[in-house]
Amino acid sequence: DASLPQKPAKDTPLGNHSSKKVTIVGMGQVGLGCVCAILNQDICGTLALIDISAKKLEGEAKDFQQGSAFHQHTTILASDTYDVSENSDMVVITAGVAQQPGESRLSLVDRNANILKKIMPEVLKYSPNATILIVSNPCDIMTAIAAKLAGPDFPQGKVFGAGTCLDTSRFQTLIAQSMDLDPKNVHGYIIGEHGDSSIPVWSSVRVGALPLLEPGEEPNDTLKKIHKSVVNSAYDIISLKGYTNWAIGMSTAYICKAVLNDTRTIIPVSTCVRGLYDVEGDVFLSLPCSLSSHGVQRVAVLPLTDSEKATFQKCAKSIWEVQKPIWE
Ligand code: 2OP
Repeated sequence: DASLPQKPAKDTPLGNHSSKKVTIVGMGQVGLGCVCAILNQDICGTLALIDISAKKLEGEAKDFQQGSAFHQHTTILASDTYDVSENSDMVVITAGVAQQPGESRLSLVDRNANILKKIMPEVLKYSPNATILIVSNPCDIMTAIAAKLAGPDFPQGKVFGAGTCLDTSRFQTLIAQSMDLDPKNVHGYIIGEHGDSSIPVWSSVRVGALPLLEPGEEPNDTLKKIHKSVVNSAYDIISLKGYTNWAIGMSTAYICKAVLNDTRTIIPVSTCVRGLYDVEGDVFLSLPCSLSSHGVQRVAVLPLTDSEKATFQKCAKSIWEVQKPIWE
């Protein structure tokens, strides 16, 4: 019917999507949260989903595919074998057990390290040039293990972790709420562990262009409570709904967007901090990093007060103590 718009030629891509391919390993609640955020932000042209449960995977893939009319066309592939991930630009690993109510992320380390050791060789076999983002918890130790599994020749920075990107988002939002401001106007970072020993860098928090604290000023009780709320966020949500997934999915999509578009955006992510702030071991912790298509491009070594530096070193030591037995 001439009155209807002509169908695009077979080889004309639908919509204005990128040619990038992202694979997400693990279709648990966090993986599904990542898929949802990535699809709705039109970040890539192909999304490959991998999980060990073929039947659940088929159901999730069909469900997502049936939403294709509502977002720029992203081809969704799914399989319980890794060939579906071939030539991915990014691979996001969310697979592993999640915290139960009251359980710390660190208590997951043995089980999730064993899962990661099975995943990484498969990922690298099909996408040897991919940038690899680790979301599985405990994120920092999982990232260190993934980097080691990638081998000494794998470009430094191409394996990194979602780290305190989410913690920092929680931190900025809570500070903004306490001051009745837009979170976009709060500039500051949570660094260190994505977890119980994360570190708020109060000395460099800016609101607009103004420092939150005067040089040498200690955070008041309201601000200390804000950091406690950040640390408690996941425990609180897990006690209410059994897991967290939406905010971690959105923060993962935000990171993927920076990598796939090579934007050099500064985001706090987990990277190797050996040699920074006198840290000795191959420890991965979050610092603000500029992200390119090759992963971590540069690390912003924030000026820290003596107390902040000591806390960072203590955090690195406690993570290394947990990581070491698995690492060696
Ligand atoms: C969180 O903090 C899942 O560790 C993640 O929500």
